[in-house]
Amino acid sequence: MAASKEYLTSVSEVDTGSMLKKFTMSTVIKWKKHWLLLMCGLFLALVTFYLSSEMVINKKFNINPVETMSTDHSHYAIWPNFEKNSAVDSDFFKSTCAKNVNFSITGLVDIKKQWAKSKNSNCQALFDKFTSMFTIDARKASLSLPSLFKKKVKGWLANNEQLYQEVFDQDVIHVISEFTHEHTVFNPLRDKRPVSPPKEPENSYFSTLLKESSDNCDFCNYKDYTAEHTFGRVESKHSFSASNIFKIDTLHAILALKKHDPLHWKLEEFLDLFQLVNTWIGKANKNYPNARYPGVAWDVLPKCGASQVHPHLHVVLDLQRYPGTWVVETWRRGAQEFYEVHNSNYFSDLVAVYSALNLTVTYGTAVAFASLVPRKDHEIVVMSERASSDFYILLYFVLRGLIDDVHKMCFSMGIALPAVNVAQGKLPAYARVITRGYVTDIRADISSLEMFLATNVNIDPYKTVEIVRNSMKARIHEVSEI
Ligand SMILES: *[C@@H]1O[C@H](CO)[C@@H](O)[C@H](O)[C@H]1NC(C)=O
Ligand SMILES: *[C@@H]1O[C@H](CO)[C@@H](O)[C@H](O)[C@H]1NC(C)=O
Repeated sequence: MAASKEYLTSVSEVDTGSMLKKFTMSTVIKWKKHWLLLMCGLFLALVTFYLSSEMVINKKFNINPVETMSTDHSHYAIWPNFEKNSAVDSDFFKSTCAKNVNFSITGLVDIKKQWAKSKNSNCQALFDKFTSMFTIDARKASLSLPSLFKKKVKGWLANNEQLYQEVFDQDVIHVISEFTHEHTVFNPLRDKRPVSPPKEPENSYFSTLLKESSDNCDFCNYKDYTAEHTFGRVESKHSFSASNIFKIDTLHAILALKKHDPLHWKLEEFLDLFQLVNTWIGKANKNYPNARYPGVAWDVLPKCGASQVHPHLHVVLDLQRYPGTWVVETWRRGAQEFYEVHNSNYFSDLVAVYSALNLTVTYGTAVAFASLVPRKDHEIVVMSERASSDFYILLYFVLRGLIDDVHKMCFSMGIALPAVNVAQGKLPAYARVITRGYVTDIRADISSLEMFLATNVNIDPYKTVEIVRNSMKARIHEVSEI
């Protein structure tokens, strides 16, 4: 294009002598440019051919250069550090942001209305984050009953007239966590319904199960009856590691207590076990330096999905990303999106919101909160910048409170730990714990609702956080005893 333009301007010149000179000059320039273009084209063709043949070869022989093992950080920025203290705690919130509120799951809609009107800048800033994180929707669900059925329904409610009246006009609360894509539906009336104890008492079921399973327990003789990774085992006073026989990943370990009872362990044993988790992650990372993303899962008793009665954790160290695109990595992606909108650490702001709403308990550098979007009953999240002893002590208070104080024998827990040497998209350490109903109940607590629609939980998070508060009060003396 540039060359032909030059040609056109040169013919419009009047002086033919200079025109000829110019013409010759421009032709030379034109030819030079054509050559240049031709050479560029040839070069590009060669590069394309080389690249595509390399791709073909790689595909055929599955040659993966080592670099492709390294983690892909491109989605993630470096966020501000996690901070558990915020300017707005629950006392400040109640004295300044929303004065006349009752803290409860049904009260949240009213809390939000009052909070929206606050003129205080701290309250407003947190309100913006709260509404961007959570959508809260109260819905009315009405019904009518045929007369014969009325008596039966009243019976289900222990003939409590007030509860019975609530049946006709129920409050259903939908909470959606916009950045982590969780959706929980609460029907508080269902939680008020008196429940009868299971036919088979849980305690006798448990003692029989414990006795029968100890006779033929491989984990009780771990040296002879468990596998190990090729880089060897780690051991401590109360715990040991093994490799899962049927693995879900390159690095998939079992970290177990030496004793067989999955429910009765002391703080010292608990801390020893999680210290060993850290040791194992260190060793696995040393042998596989590109393995950086740790995840831990713990189910207790068969009702909760445990394959063995003996207490054991699954620990994975992933090479590419956190395990579970719809759980841990989703939180991380959500936090990245949040950072792009608010330029702050999602987890700091999340804790600030829970703290304002009086749903947190803190211990040293760790904080626990009762989730507004629980995956199942009693979801409590424990969070700390690092997996410090404070983090595990608070987690211990949570678990012992559930087991001993509210007699939940069955729990499931997932833990994400900060990635090893990855600054981008840095998660705090966090554990999520849920309970799973009666251990003797044959019915599963998780259905198509949880798997394919939304989770239904009826326990008010304000009741759940009380369990943690009371447990910490009752057990804090144990910390000085170890
Ligand atoms: C937060 O909850 C605790 C326990 O229920 C209660 O004692 C405290 O007064 C509450 N704080 C506020 C500000 O309401
Ligand atoms: C809070 O609870 C008390 C006692 O149940 C009740 O009297 C009051 O009206 C409630 N306030 C709001 C704002 O719902």
